[in-house]
Amino acid sequence: MIPRFAAATALLTVALSLLGVEALPKVSRSGRYLFTDDGNRFYMKGIGYQEQGTVVVDANNPFGEPSTFVDPLSNSEACARDIPFLKDLSVNVVRVYSVDSSLNHDSCMKALDDAGIYALIDLSLPLNGSIDRVSPSWSTNLLDQYLHTIDTFSKYPNVLGYNVANEAVNSTVTQISPYVKAAARDVKAYLKSKSSSALVGYAAIDGSVDFRNTLANYLSCDPSGQNSDSTSIDIYGLNNYEWCGEGSLQGSYGATNDAFKDYNVVAYFSEFGCVTQPPRLWTEVAALFSSDMTNIWSGGIAFSYFPATSAGGSFGMVNISSDGKTVTTSDDYTRLKEQYAKVSPPNSPSKSSATATYPTCPATNSAFVASTTLPPTPDQSACGCLSSTLSCQFKPSTANYSTILGVLTDTACGLLGQENLNCDDIGGNGQTGVYGRLSGCDPTIKLSYVMSQHYEKNNRDAQACSFGGNGTVNPLAPSSASAANSAASSCISNPSATFVPGAPSGSGGGGSSNGNGSGSGKNGGVALVHDRNALVGMTAVVLMGIASAVWTLV
Ligand SMILES: *[C@@H]1O[C@H](CO)[C@@H](O)[C@H](O)[C@H]1NC(C)=O
Ligand SMILES: *[C@@H]1O[C@H](CO)[C@@H](O)[C@H](O)[C@H]1NC(C)=O
Ligand SMILES: *[C@@H]1O[C@H](CO)[C@@H](O)[C@H](O)[C@H]1NC(C)=O
Ligand SMILES: *[C@@H]1O[C@H](CO)[C@@H](O)[C@H](O)[C@H]1NC(C)=O
Ligand SMILES: *[C@@H]1O[C@H](CO)[C@@H](O)[C@H](O)[C@H]1NC(C)=O
Ligand SMILES: *[C@@H]1O[C@H](CO)[C@@H](O)[C@H](O)[C@H]1NC(C)=O
Repeated sequence: MIPRFAAATALLTVALSLLGVEALPKVSRSGRYLFTDDGNRFYMKGIGYQEQGTVVVDANNPFGEPSTFVDPLSNSEACARDIPFLKDLSVNVVRVYSVDSSLNHDSCMKALDDAGIYALIDLSLPLNGSIDRVSPSWSTNLLDQYLHTIDTFSKYPNVLGYNVANEAVNSTVTQISPYVKAAARDVKAYLKSKSSSALVGYAAIDGSVDFRNTLANYLSCDPSGQNSDSTSIDIYGLNNYEWCGEGSLQGSYGATNDAFKDYNVVAYFSEFGCVTQPPRLWTEVAALFSSDMTNIWSGGIAFSYFPATSAGGSFGMVNISSDGKTVTTSDDYTRLKEQYAKVSPPNSPSKSSATATYPTCPATNSAFVASTTLPPTPDQSACGCLSSTLSCQFKPSTANYSTILGVLTDTACGLLGQENLNCDDIGGNGQTGVYGRLSGCDPTIKLSYVMSQHYEKNNRDAQACSFGGNGTVNPLAPSSASAANSAASSCISNPSATFVPGAPSGSGGGGSSNGNGSGSGKNGGVALVHDRNALVGMTAVVLMGIASAVWTLV
């Protein structure tokens, strides 16, 4: 951000405080509960707030994940239109699934603050802006995107926290869990370095207990056995649709309450509101905020304000007129409003009695196979050093390159395989906890690296750096026989290092140690979220790269 703007923000803050405009109290975690500054327990009476982006329905998109998003916190007119309804619902948190860090959010964030509403923000974006289930990595491009978003939002007092992923881990890809935990570790360290108390969270898909409960415990455990919080999430969200129709506390939530009764950090329902037995009565609200559940849960997020267009408009509680000006509320809305108006959860236990522990990590089982050895912190300067030295470089002919990255990487790795080389350096395996030296680098640098290896193996025959016109010879590269390999050794001298990330690239100031990593984090504001498997009633949302197939170690 440019200094002049920072100064203006500082002046504005001073001006507001002189006017006596009070920001919302800070919410922080003690042990497994949330408290406001004055020591009162804080419960989320929330709602999902994001219009659905484009959902292309096909076999490669089993969760109906959107490929675009609309940042709901950047549209001041829409916020002004909706906030009276959010107030009417008496919500105190909106959950937002994807935001564009290049846009201005001042107006919406201020209006929400004035309305007593915090924002809980997911850091992932559709397509390549999230941890890929099929070829996971925790790499500079994602870290950069996440930190840009944090930098954009850290000036607002009403940011409750950031989710590092939503439903990224499902029951068949539990080996990607170390990448999610590494993301939480690095985001947490970054927030601490900025003296931010914003919470770090993950929102989980519901599922069989061996997988679901073990993942929850894995994300809040300390692999070192030192009772340290450094790799633990602060808030675990469960996207829970168990209460359908009339529901009942024991019948709908009994087993889930049991599973989380001794959980060590904050737990809440990051989505709720089953649609399979209409009408939605929202009677689960009374259960969730009753003393039967408040010693385990800190409230929840009703899903959702806007309808899910890909699921026949289900889940929504309002319709917006085609000119975007008028809100029509539904009976669902009215029932939720009545339920939310009635809740009065206990203000206990006290803050002083809430202490935190971080147990050792759960044993793996047949349903959960994640290693407790986490990927390293993505190292912008080490990857940038390597990138500038490589002999054959990926030069996409279009700015929209992410769709060909996977194909080209597969091609290059296939060629290396035939040459008795391999792609282990760019891969990783979350089950064994073995990560290639370049696993934390931007996918474009990984591709240039394997292209360079192929080019060097072929005695620098220019043809071997062509890749259909996607590769360019770097005339400044050192000429040794295995230059790429040597550059990796010298640039990435400590491949398993974890450290506090510096400011993201291009942010100016802040003591950044970043080199030339790619990934501006500006994915161009497109559009958004949700959807779902309307039959089972669990939302699928965001996440997922479609085709960023990067090799994994076998
Ligand atoms: C988990 O995600 C992978 C990758 O998107 C998908 O192929 C698989 O079907 C999913 N598993 C379940 C149980 O949904
Ligand atoms: C919103 O629009 C959908 C689809 O047109 C319709 O079924 C539903 O009744 C509408 N809801 C309200 C509250 O107007
Ligand atoms: C996603 O891909 C686009 C190009 O298609 C790129 O501009 C953007 O930086 C990428 N985002 C991440 C997080 O890698
Ligand atoms: C990027 O390329 C893909 C595949 O060629 C295409 O479907 C998509 O619409 C493009 N996106 C943009 C923003 O041009
Ligand atoms: C780059 O690679 C893609 C994927 O293999 C291919 O479709 C394209 O023709 C290549 N060349 C250019 C100039 O994009
Ligand atoms: C960054 O890029 C510039 C210009 O391309 C180059 O001179 C410099 O050495 C690079 N720095 C790193 C750390 O790669």
